[in-house]
Amino acid sequence: MKILYLTLTYLIASIPFGYIIGKIFGKDVTKEGSGNIGATNVARTIGKKAGVLVLTLDMLKGFIPVFLAKNYFFFDDKFVALVAITAVVGHCYSVFMKFKGGKGVATGIGVLLALSPKVALIVILLWAGIFLTTGYVSLASIISAFMSWIMMNYIVENYYYTLAALLASFIIIYKHSSNIERLIKGTEHRFIYK
Ligand code: G3P
Repeated sequence: MKILYLTLTYLIASIPFGYIIGKIFGKDVTKEGSGNIGATNVARTIGKKAGVLVLTLDMLKGFIPVFLAKNYFFFDDKFVALVAITAVVGHCYSVFMKFKGGKGVATGIGVLLALSPKVALIVILLWAGIFLTTGYVSLASIISAFMSWIMMNYIVENYYYTLAALLASFIIIYKHSSNIERLIKGTEHRFIYK
């Protein structure tokens, strides 16, 4: 049962909504803008509505498996944390995208919302604060990802959830390597949507 649950979580989280919606609009988002399949690049290359749709769908594919594992199947914390990591891995290393995938921010927020709405809300506010003051989506994502496991540790005080948030933040920050390089060089673009 647990193996099946993890496999389904991985497959659902692997669905590249950004890529699919991009194709519906006649664009290959992997070849435009930052090349990422996330909501930011969809908003950047297609438009705000498409970006919001991708953001919602990417969040849901992280939220639903973790929420059900925790509140419907009542799995133990250790397994819920494993489901949380699997969802982020599924998005970032999608089997449908030759294991390339996205950067895990929206899916990570969905996962956080299911693990702890309180932590998720603080992280979202932090993200919004950094984005609105700097204009850099990537910087907001990197700092928020790093802070998520610290918040989880102090607010929820759950070892397994903290570990899941820590591993997810490693993956998310690693996936932002090219953004980090650009931020250091001063060549990262501030976000402007169509
Ligand atoms: O969620 C991804 C975001 O932090 C950066 O996206 O397209 O600017 O690399 P992008």
